[in-house]
Amino acid sequence: MQKPNISAGKVLAMRSSRIHGKGVFARVPIPSGVRLIEYRGKRITNAVADALYPEDRAVPYHTFLFAIDGDVVIDAGRGGNMSRWINHSCDPNCDAVVDDGRVWIESVRDIAPGEELTYDYNFVLDERHTPAAKRRYPCICGAAKCRGTILAKKR
Ligand SMILES: C[S@@+](CC[C@H](N)C(=O)[O-])C[C@H]1O[C@@H](n2cnc3c(N)ncnc32)[C@H](O)[C@@H]1O
Ligand SMILES: [Zn+2]
Repeated sequence: MQKPNISAGKVLAMRSSRIHGKGVFARVPIPSGVRLIEYRGKRITNAVADALYPEDRAVPYHTFLFAIDGDVVIDAGRGGNMSRWINHSCDPNCDAVVDDGRVWIESVRDIAPGEELTYDYNFVLDERHTPAAKRRYPCICGAAKCRGTILAKKR
């Protein structure tokens, strides 16, 4: 079984974020290329995820789901760990890497103590990513190159 390069509890902390709600922050310097924590949760199908969490356009979008592929979704609302609090950025310092069906959060540059961990959610909808769709999934990461949405770039 793959393991993170570090002990997440010693290196990461969850607290209030300037991006959104709660976030995850570095407690110590973290070099680039470190496998930090697994995105854990109950594994469900896409169909079950849609049935459990239908999109409600009347409320701001919020999810703890991570879609691995067309079939498998990780529901970090059940059995999840600290990774479920990691916010999206359009200029992230981490990446979510799928390895043998599991998802790992890995640093992609050096991270200073106190810096918030982020990765690019790159959400993909079944529908086209029209300007209206992008507005339903806004991004407020604050990056200079923020694309204004947590949806993936192309489609
Ligand atoms: C896995 S949760 C991350 C933890 C979240 N901050 C919280 O307190 O629940 C993912 C949700 O956080 C929000 N979020 C994360 N990054 C965001 C961003 N850059 N801009 C706007 N909302 C964001 C969205 O509602 C998204 O569906
Ligand atoms: Zn952004």
